[in-house]
Amino acid sequence: MVVIGQESDKSLVAVALVFIKANFVFALFGAVIVRALLKNTYNGHTELDHIALHQKYGPVVRTAPNEVSFASPNAAKDIFAVGKGFHKTWFYSVFPPKHAPDIFTEVREWKHAQMKRFAVTPYSLAQMSKRNPQIEATIMTLMGNLTKYAGGKQNCNLGNLLHYFAFDVLGEVAFSRRFGFLEQEVDVEGSIKNIDDVQWYDGIVGQIPEFDILFRNNPIRPYLPFWKPEPTTMTRIAVEELEKRKQADGTYDSTGIDLLAELLRNHEGNKDKFSINDVFSIAHGAIFAGSDSTASTMQSFFYCVLNNPAVYKKLQKEIDDAQAAGELSEIIQYPEAMKLEWFQACLKEAMRIRPAVGLGIYRVIPPEGAKIDGQFYPGGTEVAVNGWVLHRAKDVFGEDVETYRPERWFEGDAKLMNSHMYQFGGGSHLCIGRNLALFEMNKTLIQILREFDIKLVHPGRPLEYHSTFFVVQEGLEVYLEKRAR
Ligand code: HEM
Ligand SMILES: *[C@@H]1O[C@H](CO)[C@@H](O)[C@H](O)[C@H]1NC(C)=O
Ligand SMILES: *[C@@H]1O[C@H](CO)[C@@H](O)[C@H](O)[C@H]1NC(C)=O
Repeated sequence: MVVIGQESDKSLVAVALVFIKANFVFALFGAVIVRALLKNTYNGHTELDHIALHQKYGPVVRTAPNEVSFASPNAAKDIFAVGKGFHKTWFYSVFPPKHAPDIFTEVREWKHAQMKRFAVTPYSLAQMSKRNPQIEATIMTLMGNLTKYAGGKQNCNLGNLLHYFAFDVLGEVAFSRRFGFLEQEVDVEGSIKNIDDVQWYDGIVGQIPEFDILFRNNPIRPYLPFWKPEPTTMTRIAVEELEKRKQADGTYDSTGIDLLAELLRNHEGNKDKFSINDVFSIAHGAIFAGSDSTASTMQSFFYCVLNNPAVYKKLQKEIDDAQAAGELSEIIQYPEAMKLEWFQACLKEAMRIRPAVGLGIYRVIPPEGAKIDGQFYPGGTEVAVNGWVLHRAKDVFGEDVETYRPERWFEGDAKLMNSHMYQFGGGSHLCIGRNLALFEMNKTLIQILREFDIKLVHPGRPLEYHSTFFVVQEGLEVYLEKRAR
């Protein structure tokens, strides 16, 4: 086994190998159960387990022999501090495609930093704004699709439509390609389901990355017709899109404004440092990292707002007032959205109470060891923080952390609260897609609220959800009425 960067848990590997030789199935089963019992990804509600664990045992909890989970905002600051040598654990290494780690899955810090440098500009707000026409076309498609449900008493699965929307936006932004989720109002080729399955696997086997080689990355798979690895739909599409741009002389057509084109342009001047493999994996990774996350956040927003009638009413009034004052365009523009302070607080509060990542975010302590929240821990210790826990720190957010209450963003110390929000992660691994996510959410959510009166079909009913990596939600069903302007 090639170990790059941090040493993996060698003793576990050694023990496991002996067992595997003796009894493959038994060993695997046993290992999964033991680690899963400790870590709880398999029950799909790691975030609730982590909240409960910290409530019961305090701000520092040992969750596995070599793993510690932290609840305090100070600990998170130490763990995410840039340049302190904390890096991603092998947890991330099982995410596909194995042969082409992207910014998200790359566990070698130097390689991650190199890739990220070439991707920062293509992902910047300025570049995302250039794709505004494509994003707006997708918004208009969504609005048309929602209109079909207005009027009667038709049950509209708003959650699904938002999920389709998030995918279609990424198709446009990454490849200038219409995936067609909204067009057909289906999960195209089962892609959403497919990514969800992949994430279940990642969430569980990621806890025991040593076992990945037995399953998804089993070297004998290509030789077994019934178990041949099939690329996911989205992987196939990404391969197709790159192929389309290949020219007769072997170079790539890098004209255009989409993410792939810009990455290709960066590749041209830096072929040795930024390979075609890197270009592919980053464009491909955008679909995986950006779809469920954005969809989940928008679903949480509506779930929180619609279950709080007073909040919803105030939101409608804010939008109506801005509309009456002539401050909103036909399609909501980003700067217009930023002026709607109540809306901003509503969205932020949704991201606080239901952040889109439900698992702990893992890092390894550098070899020399490090202090976390004043306490020393030896090198190699795996540390985890969970946004659902961090966003419930009472000393930062107030006593009523379990309540969805956008008012807190006006009453409390907003600067302090902002500095302890981790919905986009932190430090050198801060979400590179947040500009796109904020850009599209700021526009789309207000657009929907302005055009429709929305009522939950099942007020008060919790959304069904499970956290594999992202919190995947189901059951946001609504009735829609077109609003008069
Ligand atoms: C509201 C939507 C989103 C949320 C809540 C979100 C959340 C996160 C979080 C928490 C991380 C850190 C993960 C970690 O350290 O383990 C992250 C990283 C990342 N996200 Fe997002 N994300 C969102 C949208 C997007 C979009 C739209 C894209 C791409 C188009 C994207 C691409 C990435 C990438 C590439 C990384 C890895 C960054 C790194 O490790 O340097 N995300 N995201
Ligand atoms: C969604 O809207 C688009 C654009 O108006 C339309 O072409 C498509 O047929 C609609 N989808 C469905 C399933 O009605
Ligand atoms: C909307 O976009 C603005 C501009 O980046 C951002 O500051 C704000 O946080 C976004 N809204 C929310 C609540 O995320």
